[in-house]
Amino acid sequence: MKRLFSPTCQVSLGGIAALLLGVGCSAPMESEEISETQSFAFGSKLPGLQADADLLAEADEAFAANEGIGDGVGPIFNAAACGQCHTNGAMGGAGEQIERRFGRFANGAFNGLANRGGSLRQLFTVANFNNPDLPAGSRGRCQPGNPTLCCVPLEQEPAEATVRNVGRLTTPLFGLGLVDVLPDSTFDAIAAGQPAAIRGTVNRGQINTPNPGDPAQANGTTRVTRFGWKAGVPTLLQFSADAYVNEMAITTQSCFRGQSLNAFAIESAPNGVPVPDGCDDLAVRQDPAQNPGGLTATQWAQVDDAVGSCAGNRTEIQDDVFLFAVFMQSLAPGPRDFSNQIEVTRGAPLFNSVGCSGCHVTTTFRTPANPARLDIDGTGEETIRVPGNFAFNPYSDFLSHDMGALGDQIGNDGDNLAATRRMRTAPLWGIRVRNHLLHDGRCGDIACAIRAHDGQGAAARNAFNALSGANQHSLTEFVRSL
Ligand code: HEC
Ligand code: HEC
Repeated sequence: MKRLFSPTCQVSLGGIAALLLGVGCSAPMESEEISETQSFAFGSKLPGLQADADLLAEADEAFAANEGIGDGVGPIFNAAACGQCHTNGAMGGAGEQIERRFGRFANGAFNGLANRGGSLRQLFTVANFNNPDLPAGSRGRCQPGNPTLCCVPLEQEPAEATVRNVGRLTTPLFGLGLVDVLPDSTFDAIAAGQPAAIRGTVNRGQINTPNPGDPAQANGTTRVTRFGWKAGVPTLLQFSADAYVNEMAITTQSCFRGQSLNAFAIESAPNGVPVPDGCDDLAVRQDPAQNPGGLTATQWAQVDDAVGSCAGNRTEIQDDVFLFAVFMQSLAPGPRDFSNQIEVTRGAPLFNSVGCSGCHVTTTFRTPANPARLDIDGTGEETIRVPGNFAFNPYSDFLSHDMGALGDQIGNDGDNLAATRRMRTAPLWGIRVRNHLLHDGRCGDIACAIRAHDGQGAAARNAFNALSGANQHSLTEFVRSL
């Protein structure tokens, strides 16, 4: 994607985009205006958000924008835009797309088969295309007599996989900017307060795409990983770079305090076999002189969107990665629905008494008084900040639980079976605009999802099953209202 944002608003959006989005180059929108006009629908902006209106408009556009092989989509991918998948209820919602993962258990340890392109199996390939500028060493390798043709194979599930074709449904993003700014201590405290039988695991992982606006983050430090079905990703910024390469095959490179961030700079290799140089996509190749270090000449040439050299202690997050995170941080949680007030009122105490609230906690969360800004380069010129002391109810502890037979058995290399059955408590806010539930989308309604709970969720499931039909209905209506 080409960058459009200009802090002084000289470039702004192209004419048609500006018309469609209703964005002009007038005075920046006040935060009050945002809350008054947009706070009562899915997809609306957080009331009290601090961000420049032009930046928000550009972030909305980036999240929805379709990209093609010329922008770097390829060699293998799942879709051409974040907004192609995250659509339920409004842009940023859950989706219909179910991704596929595989892996293998040997000697009681999980292996994601990275050498065979796992654990994520991308569902599409750019397939056969001509690259007139194909480097000499890559020519003629695909079809005799057709030197500039590239043939990118589709990923297949390898025969040695023992965990097969695991589904992963697209999750909703509404309100997650509030979760992004929570300190680790929030999650540690929840776990400490849970009874042993249902206590969740606080997952921690490495930050490899730090937010320059958060003094608590640096490259290589750890943070509670609160995002994704497995609670494996620490921040929305990092998820952006991760999704950009793993879903859309767009590789990026950023700089942080003079260090090049290369974690998402390398193209996926179909079933572990890198495609010949120049057969990844048709994006403009990087200038060898700008190689920031840590990448081979071929890897560097293939990076689709890069900031380049990090000399001079440079900090700069790649534009699109930043914009996706801005979009996500801007999203308000959906509103509650009290239209079925009688059932909702009856269901609320049942949600607690059968034990749902042990994991889907009813606690009101609050953002810190001064949440860290998300900042592209640490200068404070381009930032977004979610409101401080903002109360919200996601109905999740964001911890991972051993869900027994419901667990998907996908994990990190070396995990034992129990660890691979751990799933993050799914947040229940906004559930009524979803049409598939659970990590693999197997359920179409709330009762089905409850009945599939197992492991640490078995006791609550049993208690739900033991309720009268009328009480079950009240409980599911309560969940629907969240
Ligand atoms: C092909 C469909 C698809 C596309 C395209 C896609 N996503 Fe997702 N998204 C998913 C799925 C599936 C998950 C759940 C992944 C998991 O946890 O295993 C997900 C989860 C997420 C989450 C975690 C939310 C949570 O519940 O913690 C974030 C953040 C996210 N996506 C951001 C993005 C961004 C940013 C883009 C564009 C760069 C993007 N996604 C593109 C399908 C998609
Ligand atoms: C031990 C913790 C735990 C308890 C107790 C628990 N859940 Fe869950 N719940 C989870 C986890 C983990 C998931 C995600 C499971 C998956 O998809 O693999 C989940 C998923 C769900 C979903 C699907 C949400 C989605 O995004 O697809 C619903 C609905 C739900 N739970 C409702 C309930 C209700 C109602 C109760 C009480 C009867 C309950 N849960 C008890 C941990 C728990």
